[in-house]
Amino acid sequence: MSFSLFLGLLVLALTCWSRSIPASPLLFPPSCNDSRVLSVAGLALQGINNDRKEGYEFSLNRVANVREHRQKTGSSSVYYFTLDVLETDCHVLSKKRWKDCTARHLHEAVYGRCKAIFYINLPKRILYLPAYNCTVRPVSRKKIVRMCPDCPTPIRINSLDPGVSQAVSQSLEKVNKEIAVGKKFYLFQVTQAFSQWVFGPAYFVEYLVTEAPCSKSLPGSETCLQPPADSKPVGLCRGSLSKMNQDKHVSGTCKFFQTQPPSATGSHPPEHQDPPQLALPTPAAPLQEGPRGSVQLLPELVDENNEGGQENKSFMAFPGRIDLTVEPLGEVLHLPSRFMLEKEEMPTVLPFPEGLGSDGCPGPAENSNPLILPP
Ligand SMILES: *[C@@H]1O[C@H](CO)[C@@H](O)[C@H](O)[C@H]1NC(C)=O
Ligand SMILES: *[C@@H]1O[C@H](CO)[C@@H](O)[C@H](O)[C@H]1NC(C)=O
Ligand SMILES: *[C@@H]1O[C@H](CO)[C@@H](O)[C@H](O)[C@H]1NC(C)=O
Repeated sequence: MSFSLFLGLLVLALTCWSRSIPASPLLFPPSCNDSRVLSVAGLALQGINNDRKEGYEFSLNRVANVREHRQKTGSSSVYYFTLDVLETDCHVLSKKRWKDCTARHLHEAVYGRCKAIFYINLPKRILYLPAYNCTVRPVSRKKIVRMCPDCPTPIRINSLDPGVSQAVSQSLEKVNKEIAVGKKFYLFQVTQAFSQWVFGPAYFVEYLVTEAPCSKSLPGSETCLQPPADSKPVGLCRGSLSKMNQDKHVSGTCKFFQTQPPSATGSHPPEHQDPPQLALPTPAAPLQEGPRGSVQLLPELVDENNEGGQENKSFMAFPGRIDLTVEPLGEVLHLPSRFMLEKEEMPTVLPFPEGLGSDGCPGPAENSNPLILPP
């Protein structure tokens, strides 16, 4: 090979390298608005929701950052996601798909950021979430009050507020009178509470309930058992209690959870609005097994003029991190044996890449209100 040809090839190789892979030779930064990225991000977020045991499901507001690490074998990739999320009205125990849930109103919004590592191997039908870490905060009360002074105000659910306990007990009484047939519902846990002044105090509550069967002993009277101590919540109820002079109004409705939790992503027909490039595989096994991450709820953000760049500010506000490895060249990611990968097919996981990815990041937000976007 002539020297100039060699040099030409080298220059070509270096230009390709520097154009497509600026950060690390192994990491590719796709656009955050890429349809494949959005599909995979949606699956990763479903995996996070499925793994959680408490709180409300997150929906994807935008992909803030993404890197793709294409693996050497088996047309598979490890994705490193930074996802901006919003809390929805579905409890995680409902096991609903986050796309079927509704983000909360602005005044009751909880928003934040999840980091997630997600392995996808389409030929082998593997979707696997090895790790995630989410940090969320309620929307700034000060800013909401400025926009909407009369909006409901959140009440800390462990504050033993007498208005909250009255609203819960009276709405539960109504639920038991109106919809419980042959059984009785019992309070498991209050999950959310708001108060508002509308011609008088009003309370809005959400709570999980358990159930226990009742039997008719004498006509017109029922004996109900107490639910066993380890009984699981069967549904999420919403109730309200408002007072005006001598009148009071009580409401209560419940949504019951599916008794057979669907598998992570496979049991639903692909949605029409799902981007077409990615045919969703039916996972060979449930997406998740055991806890691999956590969600931290922090207090609302107070505006501080903290020094440091934008990234520092963002990290201080939503400090979640994933430390699967610190090896600069990565480590083998050991998948559960049920996935049946050959040793040389095992993916490599790198330290979670920080810093900006592609120019196409962050992607467009579903709701671009700055009050609910991490800095
Ligand atoms: C972020 O800013 C704080 C000051 O607000 C500074 O003490 C800290 O060293 C900075 N961290 C980074 C990673 O730049
Ligand atoms: C998530 O990130 C926070 C903040 O850096 C850290 O304290 C916590 O241990 C992390 N959780 C997991 C499961 O890695
Ligand atoms: C994102 O992609 C969609 C469809 O591919 C396009 O309509 C939209 O303009 C893009 N948005 C941005 C901000 O690039």
